[in-house]
Amino acid sequence: MQLTSFVAAALAFCPVVFGANFLVMVGANNGFTFTPNEIHPNVGDTVTFQFLTRNHSATTTTFTSPCPPPPGGVGPNGFDTGFQPATTGSTPSVTVTIQDTQPHWVSCMQAAGAHCRTGMTLAINPTAQMTEAQFMANAIAS
Ligand SMILES: *[C@@H]1O[C@H](CO)[C@@H](O)[C@H](O)[C@H]1NC(C)=O
Repeated sequence: MQLTSFVAAALAFCPVVFGANFLVMVGANNGFTFTPNEIHPNVGDTVTFQFLTRNHSATTTTFTSPCPPPPGGVGPNGFDTGFQPATTGSTPSVTVTIQDTQPHWVSCMQAAGAHCRTGMTLAINPTAQMTEAQFMANAIAS
């Protein structure tokens, strides 16, 4: 094998250096949704939030009392994209890097939790006990 193809092959299978990217669409079809609403990234992977409609955020919150997510997001290793309006003809995107494999619970800060309470939720690394379905139910009930 030539050195260049060996290096290319080594890099291609080296997830610590080059993580996978997960694309999550926010507000597709004008809905109060993250699509997909459940992802399972590893440490070093990235998540790109693409904001398609309205004026949303992707902000980490708590599993049990999700709405509204607090500015800055709930940590450790939480995040907050801030408000990203897709109302002026652009579809902004924000990429975050995953720092651990703990569950992270994501919703939208807009309208004092009104978007969140529609069930607008994304589960990052949910578990068998703490599921996206239960997180969404908690958001709707909060
Ligand atoms: C987006 O929402 C935030 C929070 O409600 C607001 O402060 C901001 O003005 C909005 N941006 C646009 C362009 O509507």
